[in-house]
Amino acid sequence: MSALPGSGPGAAVTGLDASPVDSSPETLAELPPLTEQTRREAREIIARYPQPRSALLPMLHLVQSYQGYVSPEGVALCADELGLTKAEVGAVATFYTMYKRRPAGRHLVSVCTNTLCAVLGGQRIYDALSADLGIHHDETTADGSITLEHAECLAACDYAPVVTVDYEFYDQQDVESARSLVAALRRGEKPHPTRGAPLTDFRGVSRQLAGFSQHADEAAARAAVDAPMQDEPTLRGVRLAAERGETAPPMPGPEPEPADAGEPAETVAPSGGTGETPEEEAADARVAAADTPAERAGAAQTHPDTGAEYGRPRPPAGRQREGTDTPPAAEPATGTDPTQSKEA
Ligand code: FES
Repeated sequence: MSALPGSGPGAAVTGLDASPVDSSPETLAELPPLTEQTRREAREIIARYPQPRSALLPMLHLVQSYQGYVSPEGVALCADELGLTKAEVGAVATFYTMYKRRPAGRHLVSVCTNTLCAVLGGQRIYDALSADLGIHHDETTADGSITLEHAECLAACDYAPVVTVDYEFYDQQDVESARSLVAALRRGEKPHPTRGAPLTDFRGVSRQLAGFSQHADEAAARAAVDAPMQDEPTLRGVRLAAERGETAPPMPGPEPEPADAGEPAETVAPSGGTGETPEEEAADARVAAADTPAERAGAAQTHPDTGAEYGRPRPPAGRQREGTDTPPAAEPATGTDPTQSKEA
């Protein structure tokens, strides 16, 4: 597997990261030690889960919140607390790109260079920052202020090109705005993200990802979560769809039970004898009269029978099940031979 374009020699590669964990004596000497407080917090995380090993991912973030990466000491702590081998912890820590193999800078700047961001300028942004900072993918500036990385799609394509700092979004960037952002970070400023919570730093957000609040109290946490955002790109599609009368088709439901032999297939329940209200019968008629899939989906969405399988045969009234979405095939069999039961 080859390194990303622009990566320096020995830098991390894409996918399964084969780069070694940084355990050089100089690095380890500079790290704040993991303390009894770290262990207490690790146990607090473990107590949240029915299975202790489920706590491993937030515990790795906890380690990063203290030491800026998943250090050998952190791997040993997680293994010790969870009864796992260090190899098992390392296998998880090296699988995900959010776990760093060498100490990250004060801020982690991630530039999306995936398809949509790339064609709209993401690669130019990455190249400019890399040249300005003199570092490549997964490298940190000499003053420890910035770690730069390529990122795969950050799930914000409607805001492309996207840059995140410590996983907070800075949308619709260009080369100059990204340069200004990074310059401000290096001066110690924290420009507010274009949406979401205020910026902290890499260790601070790692603590949040471990499940510990960064906010002084509940009100401050709520204010951060409810912070204003620029949502126009996301809502633009919704508005256009509303103007055009377009709706998404309903989610597919469970497959209908096979009709009994000789039972006529119906696409819409006939009026009379079904127990439906006049409103439901009118809605059925609107669905049946729709000419196109889009019209049909729109009529279905306003149908009072949410979840009904429009256009599919309805089971006879006596066989309709209430209060469950369990498909027939998933229901426990009844009338089974008691000799087959473990409890018999
Ligand atoms: S391609 Fe960049 S956010 Fe999706």
